[in-house]
Amino acid sequence: MKQRLLSLLFLLFWTVFPGFGQNTYSILPKPLRLDPGAGEFIFPSDPLIAVASTDPALRRLAEELANQIGKVTGKDTKVFAGNFRVKDGINFVTSKETKLGAEGYCLEVTPKRIIITAEQSKGFFYGVQTLLQLMPTQIYGSERAENIKWRIPCCYIEDRPRYAYRGLMLDVGRHFYPVAFIKKFIDLIAMHKMNTFHWHLTDDQGWRIEIKKYPKLTEIGSQRSQTMLGHYNDQKYDGKPYGGFYTQEEIRQVVKYAQERFVTVVPEIEMPGHALAALAAYPQYGNNPDKIYKVGTKWGVYEDVYAPKDETFRFLEDILTEVMDLFPGQYIHIGGDECPKNQWQESRFCQDLMKKEGLKDEHELQSYFIRRIDRFVTSKGRKMIGWDEILEGGISPNATIMSWRGTEGGMLAAQQHHDAIMSPGNFCYLDHYQADAKTQPLAIGGLTPLEESYAYDPTPANLATEEAKHIIGVQGNVWTEYMPSSEYVEYMTFPRAIALAEVGWTSAERKNITDFKQRLEVHKQRLDYLKVNYFGAPGNGKFTYRWPLKK
Ligand code: ACM
Repeated sequence: MKQRLLSLLFLLFWTVFPGFGQNTYSILPKPLRLDPGAGEFIFPSDPLIAVASTDPALRRLAEELANQIGKVTGKDTKVFAGNFRVKDGINFVTSKETKLGAEGYCLEVTPKRIIITAEQSKGFFYGVQTLLQLMPTQIYGSERAENIKWRIPCCYIEDRPRYAYRGLMLDVGRHFYPVAFIKKFIDLIAMHKMNTFHWHLTDDQGWRIEIKKYPKLTEIGSQRSQTMLGHYNDQKYDGKPYGGFYTQEEIRQVVKYAQERFVTVVPEIEMPGHALAALAAYPQYGNNPDKIYKVGTKWGVYEDVYAPKDETFRFLEDILTEVMDLFPGQYIHIGGDECPKNQWQESRFCQDLMKKEGLKDEHELQSYFIRRIDRFVTSKGRKMIGWDEILEGGISPNATIMSWRGTEGGMLAAQQHHDAIMSPGNFCYLDHYQADAKTQPLAIGGLTPLEESYAYDPTPANLATEEAKHIIGVQGNVWTEYMPSSEYVEYMTFPRAIALAEVGWTSAERKNITDFKQRLEVHKQRLDYLKVNYFGAPGNGKFTYRWPLKK
């Protein structure tokens, strides 16, 4: 009898919450609040999307949603400029009443209608991402899907991010990827509710951004004579010239594409170290003007760094002026990491400068360098980000710190009331192996499995409340020494970047790795429709040196 009662109750539960336990609500990153509801919204043959606002960004978002629904479901989906709640359709309602902030949204699905309420278009964008994840996964396809029941389980969702900065970095210096892939990468950032693409545009092995005033940066600096093959320790080279760069026109296109997806692009121009490709083009800004500099062909850190001379600052300020014209976001990243000091120790000019400026060592000279650049960036109304080495020798007044050598740099910055973005290697370096190296394609080293990235909490527990406010977010870093193709990048980046997206968006109390992995299983179908070559994709399970392209 008891057994029958239980079965009956179970049946009743399933009728009310169909699909419960089957990942009906496989939303990544997990929302702040999700109340499952009874029943489902069934798409009519001619769904309407009603948008009251005249905000062009919102109209475009509605049009894109209508196009995708129309393309995949075959239903005649239209956008309607109206201020009433359409039945059998999707309503975008602009309101401050949700009190969920600029990126927050509220999503209500009832059998009658769907309502997304948000303050701003970015909130609607995230509401739409959630809505798509409530639909059958086929909605991510690029063609008409047959025999699907287009329905959405009823629910009430309130959502907003934990952190303001949620980023993913791609290094295009070590390997270069086409604009089409950069756009795909941005799509994947946006889909997972991250809002920043950090574009690492210059490094020893390649300068990848066109600068009109200094054409040799790309004529010479974007080309190297060959590339390392295999692991660093093998010291083998492929003997093939390699190069590529983005024109300013392409960069403007990428920035606009990102803006339409509420992603800010943060350009990184490395200084004073990681400057070899620039010095190959303009040796006069190095410490040994007579030296023949060659664009780097091996990985690692080079001793060739900029000389802190007035003409070098003029050169860098000219470059940053063009960069700021291309990238309208508030942040400009100036690198600042891994700058060996030997050449400065040996340089008469540097030693005299240190005396003149009262700098006690070369770390203070690095600080002097960064402060001058900070002054320039700040004078243009922008904010400078630097890797945590810029703390050494004293932090520059307006700097935001990107903490990569562990979490100490971020903590120190926050304690000095500077903003910090956390991207410590152990959790956030997506160039590390993600499983036993014997089962994996070549990577730089380390081991950062999905679970480890997921477990990260960016706000150190020992910070005081006022200090903790300066931990503004988290970022995954994709360094590409060992990633010669975009498929390889996808393999290393996903799904770990999705774990970091949840770290950045979802409150620590709401995170649960078992639940995350269950949602991820459904989500993988979406990634399949988007042709993402993620780790764990069908056909990606066995070791090969160069990972096969997924068809
Ligand atoms: C870094 O990984 N050198 C920031």
